[in-house]
Amino acid sequence: MKETLNILVLFGGQSPEHEVSRKSAAFIADTLSRNPVYNLILVGINKQGEWKYYPGDTEAMRDGSWENEPGLERAFLTADASEGALYFPAGNKEAISIDCVFPVLHGSNGEDGRLQGMLEMSGIPFVGCGMLSSALAMDKSFANKIMDFHEIPHTKWCSIDMSSYHNDEDSELDRICSELDFPLFVKPANAGSSIGISKVENREELAAAIKLALKYDHTIVLENAVKGRELEVSALGSADDLILSVVGEIVPDRVFYDYSAKYENSESKLMIPAELTESELEEINRYAGKIFTALNCYGMARIDFFLSDSGQVFVNEVNTIPGFVDISMYPRLLAASGIKAEELLDRLVQLAFERYLHGKL
Ligand SMILES: Nc1ncnc2c1ncn2[C@@H]1O[C@H](COP(=O)(O)OP(=O)(O)O)[C@@H](O)[C@H]1O
Ligand SMILES: [Mg+2]
Repeated sequence: MKETLNILVLFGGQSPEHEVSRKSAAFIADTLSRNPVYNLILVGINKQGEWKYYPGDTEAMRDGSWENEPGLERAFLTADASEGALYFPAGNKEAISIDCVFPVLHGSNGEDGRLQGMLEMSGIPFVGCGMLSSALAMDKSFANKIMDFHEIPHTKWCSIDMSSYHNDEDSELDRICSELDFPLFVKPANAGSSIGISKVENREELAAAIKLALKYDHTIVLENAVKGRELEVSALGSADDLILSVVGEIVPDRVFYDYSAKYENSESKLMIPAELTESELEEINRYAGKIFTALNCYGMARIDFFLSDSGQVFVNEVNTIPGFVDISMYPRLLAASGIKAEELLDRLVQLAFERYLHGKL
């Protein structure tokens, strides 16, 4: 290994989760920078999708003011497999060779496999799941189909697509009402951070919720609401060498764990570890491992569950670039399992190199 490694941290992104990503990336950059082995290179992607080299401090990433710094240069990676560098198209700065990319981009255009596909073509090692697993985990409709195929329990669900819905709204609403039971959740297939998600109690509310979800994706997932507890597990490693953290519990202070409960003023509580019976824990761990493998995940993932009041365990979803600030579940659950943030980030970078060396891309 080289004495210092050039780690490119990508933050922001063209996604409704842009703000969250900036905060996660600032935490990751601060933590990585405590280790002199890492030479950090920061590139912010603004909401218009422009990539800019950001040589400043992480505080301005947190509050979004990084973009106001004068003279930020455009910077690019390329899919060309012979290069492995960050380029400055203005031509007045030399390309910086990159050893590893850490994409800290939540949601669309960052967590959904598009960027991972480009990085796989570039041949630069990168942290986290690859193209296929990122795309599958991000799309709730495909992820649910894979859970059904592998008999991983998920609450009863169905999906609709925009064109068939617009063709005949009434019969689609009839179909949903006959297949599922109220209350139910309506979600865009591809989104995140609870954006575009509603809980609905009856058919009248359903139409409005579908209209909202269709703003974010042309495929909508609908599912029976699970009455019970929300549990999360952090996974670190690869399918054949996987560490699962203790299980944490989210106790939302409102109807459900919506965007503002996640990131804004919230009294929602995180309980670490969650109080669970041996058999509940065993089931959660078994399904966490099973879904990680079924989706072909690698590196990191946070796996979210429901435990119904009647004692049934359901997988809700898998997040391949989970929230990563100091109070986020992903690093906190691993810290509670004895893996502090610095060690966690070292391991993630190491896994990126291992995948590359083992030709697993
Ligand atoms: N089937 C369900 N039953 C009960 N609560 C749900 C259900 N689906 C979603 N929720 C609530 O909505 C939140 C966001 O839904 P989720 O599927 O996790 O989407 P996101 O990808 O936006 O996090 C969950 O954390 C939970 O509070
Ligand atoms: Mg979620």
